[in-house]
Amino acid sequence: MMKIAVVGSINVDMTVTAERIPKKGETLRGDSLHYIPGGKGANQAVAMAKLGAEVEMFGLVGDDAMGVKMIDNLKAQGVKCDHIGTVKGESTGTAVITVGESDNTIIVVAGANGKVDKNYIDGVKDALLAQDMVVLQHEIPLETVAYIVNLMSEHGVPVVLNPAPAANVPAEIVEKVTYLTPNEHEAVLIFGEGASTEELLRKYPEKLIITQGSRGVSTCLADGTILTVPARKVEVVDTTGAGDTLNGAFAVRRAAGDDMEKALIYANAAASLSIGKFGAQGGMPTAEEVEEVLNK
Ligand code: RIB
Repeated sequence: MMKIAVVGSINVDMTVTAERIPKKGETLRGDSLHYIPGGKGANQAVAMAKLGAEVEMFGLVGDDAMGVKMIDNLKAQGVKCDHIGTVKGESTGTAVITVGESDNTIIVVAGANGKVDKNYIDGVKDALLAQDMVVLQHEIPLETVAYIVNLMSEHGVPVVLNPAPAANVPAEIVEKVTYLTPNEHEAVLIFGEGASTEELLRKYPEKLIITQGSRGVSTCLADGTILTVPARKVEVVDTTGAGDTLNGAFAVRRAAGDDMEKALIYANAAASLSIGKFGAQGGMPTAEEVEEVLNK
């Protein structure tokens, strides 16, 4: 089986559900409060493990009770955690999330995720280079992301970079990653407003994948065709983690040898299933569940 690594964030999500998301300066009554596993890195690792991949998570937690719980959760989901470190005197990454009216807002406090630096990467280098694919996001320091991309590209290890939360990606890094998966908003930050989505996709065939929320996901195939896989119509419970599910599922299917179209159809179906349940990781489907939807 192909080995996939995630180097990224491990968060506890402090998720409040309310009738709607509050406006600036407004106080609302919430319906519920949950402390649940999250973090774009950990979410993508769990999405892949649930789909049956061999996954290892690399990153750091704080020396608090939540750090232990988040690692226990990853292990329980079948993610290897041998190289996750604990930072003394630091708290585990935390996301404050509001879920209401089929949408959400998220504020992330990096905590220990902010300490994932070159030293940490040097310490796990051999384990990383033994992977068949490495999946990254923007919830660890961006210079660390660039350092990993350079290292992997020197050694020919394919990299998926999900540039979320939005931040610029230097042109050199865009060139070196195998796949770049921004949403439309993140794409504008990286490439500017000058080019249309289609123009951008054509510039990076089978590399750039732009997610468009309820409209689906698009890429440009090697023959120049623009492929858009429309989102499936589902009842939305919680969209948190849908992008992570899409990224994880895409990485798993590409690593397994699917072509772009097949991998994106699969990833799109997986993401649609994830939003039917509460929590970033709560609705992530198994391979059987995705197959069932695809066969319908
Ligand atoms: O992508 C969803 C994730 O973003 C949440 O789990 C939260 O931790 C934030 O990092």
